[in-house]
Amino acid sequence: MLVSNKTIQKKAEQRRYGVGAFNVYDMESVQSVVRAAELERSPAIIATSEGAISYAGHEFLAELIELATRKKKVQFTMHLDHGQDMDIIRKCLKLGYTSVMIDASKYDFKKNIRITRQVVQLAHKKGVSVEAELGTIGGVEDSVSARKILLTEPEDAKEFVAHTGCDTLAVAIGTSHGAYKFAGSSRLDIMRLRQIKKTVKVPLVLHGASGIPDWIVKKAKLFGAVLGKPHGVSDKDIRAAISGGISKINIDSDLRLTFDATIREVLKKRPEIFDPRKILGPARDAMTDMVRYKMRLFGSSGKTR
Ligand code: G3H
Ligand code: 13P
Ligand code: ZN
Repeated sequence: MLVSNKTIQKKAEQRRYGVGAFNVYDMESVQSVVRAAELERSPAIIATSEGAISYAGHEFLAELIELATRKKKVQFTMHLDHGQDMDIIRKCLKLGYTSVMIDASKYDFKKNIRITRQVVQLAHKKGVSVEAELGTIGGVEDSVSARKILLTEPEDAKEFVAHTGCDTLAVAIGTSHGAYKFAGSSRLDIMRLRQIKKTVKVPLVLHGASGIPDWIVKKAKLFGAVLGKPHGVSDKDIRAAISGGISKINIDSDLRLTFDATIREVLKKRPEIFDPRKILGPARDAMTDMVRYKMRLFGSSGKTR
């Protein structure tokens, strides 16, 4: 069943857990998230970035998600991650997305408000909820980049939500996208998060939340990946963020690393195979396990609640 982020996050807030938003690109990643959600009896947000849309094709990806989630008992969202292009946002509304994110955080405060409000007006006509971003989340990926990190100011957040009417808000409290988030150990500004939560009424979102577990980095390196010294958000900090008011947690890099490490292992250990299903199948299983782990960590799993 497809619902909106607002619906999923409101419930999560009331019951004090976080819902994972997992980035997908293809059949394997979509099936991993859906399978994990069914096994854990957990809600899940299925996120497509503009990069994923251009890779897979917008109609194709939307149909794939619709088909994969149809008649399922658990709740899913079809969500646009870091939307920046108005044409893509309009197309999401036509294709049956239930949530869109407008990321105008690279603009100044007033322009961010103006663009976000425009998207809210469009989306609300269709009953689609809107996530906006205030402050910047660092790191660089295909189409999402921010060189300088500006943490979210609680009073600005209050004014921003009042002026835009956004349904949920992504806040910057020290995370960044990708595998290289911290020079040393994980550090989030939980005090700031608590202040934002006090001043803002809408549910909050944490981007750049991958944990980059040591074991998966070691495995990827063992089978040939060239990685520097990646560091992610610790499980302890994720729990602190949820208790500080975060109800949506964005995960992409952990799934990318899981996919990469598994494919490398299969190819290295079984050089004789060349059937794509025997290569991609284990990666799909490994991503399912990773998503299940996150659902338990976030407290959204019906098995642990
Ligand atoms: O936050 C961004 C997501 O991880 C998507 O990255 O633009 O490389 O698909 P992408
Ligand atoms: P990670 O790079 O930490 O997985 O963050 C993903 C994200 O924020 C997607 O919007
Ligand atoms: Zn993000």
